[in-house]
Amino acid sequence: RNWEHCTHLPDQLAAQRKEIDAVLEPFLLSPETLREVKNKMRTELEYGLKRETQGSATVKMLPTYVCGTPDGTEKGKFLALDLGGTNFRVLLVKIRSGRRKSVRMYNKIFAIPLEIMQGTGEELFDHIVHCIADFLEYMGIKGARLPLGFTFSFPCKQASIDKGTLVGWTKGFKATDCEGEDVVDMLREAIKRRNEFDLDIVAVVNDTVGTMMTCGYEDPNCEIGLIAGTGSNVCYMEDMKNIEIVEGNEGKMCINTEWGGFGDNGCIDNIRTEYDKEVDEGSLNPGKQRYEKMTSGMYLGEIVRQILIDLTKRGLLFRGQISESLRKRGIFETKFLSQIESDRLALLQVRQILQQLGLDSTCEDSIIVKEVCGAVSRRAAQLCGAGLAAIVEKKRENRGVEHLQITVGVDGTLYKLHPHFSRVLQETVKELAPWCDVTFMLSEDGSGKGAALITAVAKRLRNIDKYLYAMRLSDETLIDIMARFRREMKNGLSRDFNPTATVKMLPTFVRSIPDGSEKGDFIALDLGGSYFRILRVKVSHEKKQTVQMESEIYNTPEDIMHGSGTRLFDHVAECLGDFMEKQQIKDKKLPVGFTFSFPCRQSKLDEGVLITWTKRFKASGVEGADVVKLLNRAIKKRGDYDADIMAVVNDTVGTMMTCGFDDQRCEVGLIIGTGTNACYMEEMRHIDLVEGDEGRMCINTEWGAFGDDGSLEDIRTEFDREIDRGSLNPGKQLFEKMVSGLYMGELVRLILVKMAKEGLLFEGRITPELLTKGKFETKHVSAIEKSKEGLSKAKDILTRLGVEPSHEDCVAVQHVCTIVSFRSANLVAATLGAILCQLRDNKGVGRLRTTVGVDGSLYKMHPQYARRLHKTTRRLVPDSDVRFLLSESGSGKGAAMVTAVAYRLADPLLLAALRGQRKGRGLRRRCFSPATV
Ligand code: BG6
Ligand code: BG6
Ligand code: GLC
Ligand code: GLC
Repeated sequence: RNWEHCTHLPDQLAAQRKEIDAVLEPFLLSPETLREVKNKMRTELEYGLKRETQGSATVKMLPTYVCGTPDGTEKGKFLALDLGGTNFRVLLVKIRSGRRKSVRMYNKIFAIPLEIMQGTGEELFDHIVHCIADFLEYMGIKGARLPLGFTFSFPCKQASIDKGTLVGWTKGFKATDCEGEDVVDMLREAIKRRNEFDLDIVAVVNDTVGTMMTCGYEDPNCEIGLIAGTGSNVCYMEDMKNIEIVEGNEGKMCINTEWGGFGDNGCIDNIRTEYDKEVDEGSLNPGKQRYEKMTSGMYLGEIVRQILIDLTKRGLLFRGQISESLRKRGIFETKFLSQIESDRLALLQVRQILQQLGLDSTCEDSIIVKEVCGAVSRRAAQLCGAGLAAIVEKKRENRGVEHLQITVGVDGTLYKLHPHFSRVLQETVKELAPWCDVTFMLSEDGSGKGAALITAVAKRLRNIDKYLYAMRLSDETLIDIMARFRREMKNGLSRDFNPTATVKMLPTFVRSIPDGSEKGDFIALDLGGSYFRILRVKVSHEKKQTVQMESEIYNTPEDIMHGSGTRLFDHVAECLGDFMEKQQIKDKKLPVGFTFSFPCRQSKLDEGVLITWTKRFKASGVEGADVVKLLNRAIKKRGDYDADIMAVVNDTVGTMMTCGFDDQRCEVGLIIGTGTNACYMEEMRHIDLVEGDEGRMCINTEWGAFGDDGSLEDIRTEFDREIDRGSLNPGKQLFEKMVSGLYMGELVRLILVKMAKEGLLFEGRITPELLTKGKFETKHVSAIEKSKEGLSKAKDILTRLGVEPSHEDCVAVQHVCTIVSFRSANLVAATLGAILCQLRDNKGVGRLRTTVGVDGSLYKMHPQYARRLHKTTRRLVPDSDVRFLLSESGSGKGAAMVTAVAYRLADPLLLAALRGQRKGRGLRRRCFSPATV
C-alpha cells in the first residue's frame, strides 16, 4: 500500500474494526463515570484529612509544613537536589529579593543506574552524594556550607520541614532499607561518610510542592501543584482548620495528596481493565498506586504494550506474531507515546518509530497502534482531570465562593511533551468543575527553584529559632531550675539564710483557708495589679454561706504611682471615701482587708512593711514603712470617715483564699499577671522566722525576685538584660521580668527590633513606632497567638507599627511570640513544680493531690498559656494530681475572708478562750492573734 494514502483502516478490515473497538471500549469514559471518579476522589481527600480515617485512607494527604506561597522576600544562595522524576538534578539557585527580584539557576543532570535505584539505600545515597560532590567541584563551591533543599518525589511523612520519613517507594525506585527511615538523615549520613564537604539540609519537599512554589513565585494565585510525569500527584494549600492531624487552626498548609494511591482500596476497580491489572502485577509495587498506574507516564506505555500483545494474539496486529521486542517491558516510554500521537507525524514516521522499537509494522498496524495510544492517553488525561476537578472544587468550598479563580502549577514530561494530554485534562476540569476558572501554568524551571524558595523561608524561620535558641528550655533545664528554686525556698525559710536570701518566703500570718464559718460586711482594697479596685463583700450565713460583692475600679495615674508615698495613700484614702459615699456607709466603721500586691514583711496580720516596690510602682517614702499605718494616717487626715484595717494580704494570698472558698483542697495561690508570684501553705516547723511548730502558715514566696543573686544568669538572654536596664527597678525581680505581663510585650518588641536590624524581618525596615518602648503590648502577644485569627491580628498590629509585614513576617512574629510566652509558662511550671514537690514531701505522700488557685491577666487572657502551663507542670511533677482553679472574683473576696476571721478572733472573749486553750504557748509566740488567722 501507498503510505501516503494510509490514513484509516481500509474497508476490508471492517470486521476487525469491531473487535478493536471492543478492546478499546473500556478506555472510553462517559461524563457520568468521570463525575463519579471526581466524587470518589473528593471523599478520599476528606478521609485523608480526618484523624479517625487517616490511617486507612488511600489518598494519604501528607502535611508538608510549607505554610505559604512565595512572597518575593526570599533571598540567598542555595543548593537543590531533584530526585524522583525522569532526571536526577543537582542545582545551585541564587535568589535576589526586592525590586530586582530574580532567580538564577545552574544545574547538572546525573544518571541513576537501575542497579542503584533498586540496590541498597546506602548505595543510593552514596551515589547522590557522589553526584553532589561532582557538582560542587564543577561549580567551584566545595568549601561553602550551603543550605540545601531536597526535592524528593516520593511519599514522605513529615513532622517538620526538615524531616521526611519515606512511606513507601513508588515508580521505578526500590532501594532497600529506606522505607520508614528519615531520608534527610540518610542524606546527612552519606555526606558524613564521604567526609569531603558539609551541607546544611534545611528542607525536604515533594516535587508537587516544589512545582507549586516555582509557579507561585510568578503567580501568587497558584495554590495547587500538579505533576503529570513519570508519576502522578497533586498538592494544594489547605486550611489548617481542616487538617486534623496537625495542631493549630490558623492559616494554611500545603498538603501533598499522594493521590497516586487513589483506588488502592478497590474503589475504582470498576474502571480498571485487564491491561491495567496486568501492568500492576508486573510493577515494582503490585496493588499500590492504582490511579497513578492509569494516569502517569511510567505506565501508559506499558498499558499500550499489553493491549498490543492482546491484539496481536487475536491476530489483529503484527501478523499475529509477538516479537521479542513486544515482550520487553518498558519499551514504550512516554516520549515515544507522545511522538506516535503527534498529529504532525505521517504514518510512515510512526512506522519508523515502531521500527526503532524493534516492531515491524504495516501501514494498518501503525494506524492501530496510534489509536491504542490515543485511547490510553486520553483516558489518563480525563482521569487526571477528574481528580483535579475534585481538588479545585474543594478549594472553592474552602474559600466559600461561588466562582473560584485559581492557578495550577504543572510539571512532568507527560503534560509537557504529549500532544493532547494537557488539552484533554483542561477540558475535563472545565466540564467537571464549571464554577472554577482554572489557569494552568507550566513550570519552566522544574521544582528545584521552588525547593530553594522553601529553603529560603525555612532557613529564615530556623534562624529565628536559632536566634531565640536560649529561650527554648528543655525539660532537663526546667528540672534543674526547679531544684534551684527549691534551694531558694529553703534558704528563705531558714533563720540563718533568710537575711541574704533572694526569695524572701514571707510569713503571712494566714493559717488556714476559709472554713465556711466566715460572715459579716467587709471592705476590700485591691491595689497593685492592673486595676485598683475597692469592693464591698457581704458574707451571710443563712443555711448556706453566700457572698455578695460590689466593686468599683479607680484610676491610679502614673504620676501618683511614681510620686510621693503620702500622695499615693491620700489617693487611696480619697477613693475609699468616694466608695463609702456611694455605698452610703460613710458613717459605719467596717472592717477593711487590704490586698497590697507587693512584698511586705509582716509580724502580724494587720501590719505590712513594704520591702521594695515592684512592677509599675515607685512612690517615695514607702519602702521600709508599714502600709497599714500610712493608710490609717491618710484616712485620719481626711477625717470624714473611719475604717478598721484588719488585715493586709498579698494578692497571691487573697487568690488562694478566694479559691479556697470553693475548693477546700486549695493550698497554693498563683498570680501570672502584671507581676508573678505564688504563696502556699507551709508547715510551721519549717518556718524559722515564726515561733511555734504546729499547723501551717501561708508563705508568700515573692518568687519574682528569683535570680536577683545571679542564679538564673545562664538562662537570661540579652533581651532580658535590656528589659531589666529599662525598668523601674534594675537588678531586681529578674524572674518576674522573664515571665510576667508587664514585660512580655516589650520583650517581644526588643527581639523584633533586633531581628529587623539584622534583616530577618520586615526586609530590614525599622519604624519609629517599632522603636518606641511599650508600643508592643502583652495583649498583642495574646492576640497574635490566637489560633484562628492570630496571623491576621499580627498583620493589623504590625501594620499599626508602620512596618508593612509580609505573610512570612507575620508567621515569624507569631513564632517569636510563641517562644517568649512558652518560656514564661515553662518557667512558672518549674517554680510551681518546686512548691508542689515541697507540699508533697511535707505531707509525706507518694502522690500529691492539690488545688492551685490562679489569677492574673496573662493567665486569663492568653489563648494558650494556661494549657501549656498545666501540661508542663504535670510533666515536671508527674506524681501529682493538680487542679488549677481560676479565681473568678479576684483576690478581694479572699481578703474579706481573711478579714472575717481576723475580726472574729479580735473578739476579746474568744481571744481569751483561745489563749487558755493553748496554755503557755500563746505567751511565747511573738504575735499570737488577732494577728494571725
Ligand atoms: C521536573 C521536576 O521538572 O518534573 C521534578 O523538576 C519532577 O521535580 C519532574 O519530579 C516530574 O516529571 P517527570 O516526567 O520527570 O517525572
Ligand atoms: C486580680 C486580683 O484579679 O488579679 C488582684 O484581684 C491581682 O489582686 C490581679 O493583683 C493580678 O493580675 P493583674 O493582671 O491584674 O496583675
Ligand atoms: C509518585 C510519588 C509522588 C510524586 C509523583 C510525581 O506518585 O509517590 O510523591 O509526587 O510520583 O513525581
Ligand atoms: C509582684 C509583687 C508580688 C505580687 C506579684 C503579683 O511580684 O512583688 O507581691 O504578688 O507582683 O501581683
